[in-house]
Amino acid sequence: MKPATRELVRRLDGLMPETALILGSGLGSLVEAVAMPIRIPYRDLPGFPEGGVSGHAGEVVAGEIAGIPVLILSGRVHYYEKGDPAAMRTPLEVVHALGITSVILTNAAGSLHEEIAPGSVMMISDHINFSGTNPLIGEPSDDRFVGMTSAYDHDLRTRFRAIAKAQNIGLKEGVYMWFSGPSFETPAEIRAARMLGADAVGMSTVPEVILSRFLGLRCAAFSVITNYGAGMSGGELSHAETKEMAPKGGEMLGRLIAAFFEEQAAKV
Ligand code: HPA
Repeated sequence: MKPATRELVRRLDGLMPETALILGSGLGSLVEAVAMPIRIPYRDLPGFPEGGVSGHAGEVVAGEIAGIPVLILSGRVHYYEKGDPAAMRTPLEVVHALGITSVILTNAAGSLHEEIAPGSVMMISDHINFSGTNPLIGEPSDDRFVGMTSAYDHDLRTRFRAIAKAQNIGLKEGVYMWFSGPSFETPAEIRAARMLGADAVGMSTVPEVILSRFLGLRCAAFSVITNYGAGMSGGELSHAETKEMAPKGGEMLGRLIAAFFEEQAAKV
């Protein structure tokens, strides 16, 4: 057992979550939905990354939402921080070792469509890896040849669609394209992304989804739209705008995820 797994098992004190959340930029407020939270800084967990992006906390928060045990990775590291696409491998391996079977990932993203306005939430139906790298490069086992046909779990998406409808949440759905960052895209890259079939662009999530599928974890992922893609609305893009806008859609996403756990609680 990895030391981080042992430490988490000890600190969770019998709590056995089946679902993990991985929260992106400015979306840390979902943590507030957790009752009686147990908070463990990443620095107490060997192999967990020290995140360096403002707006990312870097802690595990475990507890219950609507009485359902949950484990939150609040803060992720990105490929662009140190050039390591597998930076989240240890946390995901630990999540898997804890017996967790599903991962819900969130990020902030730029929209490529007028009708997916800043402040909206897009459920990711599929992705395009436009980074040129992959977190499984160097993995020696044949398990590295991971099928990605059903990367975004069909059943989870069906459930989230139904919950959004019942909650009157206008949930969008589309394809997320992963750019390495940290510079934002150019207007030409945004036009190319649209032509290639993307609906939103961002700098995260795809490596974690690849690693999650490698480990056999089921994935659902959501983009909070913070802006239109470069060149679509005139002004320059900035991380300040991402941080300012993320909590707006984040509130809606928080309601959706809370309703997901409430539905689960009603079933058991
Ligand atoms: N591009 C890439 N990443 C992002 C964006 C964007 O426009 N907005 C928020 N994260």
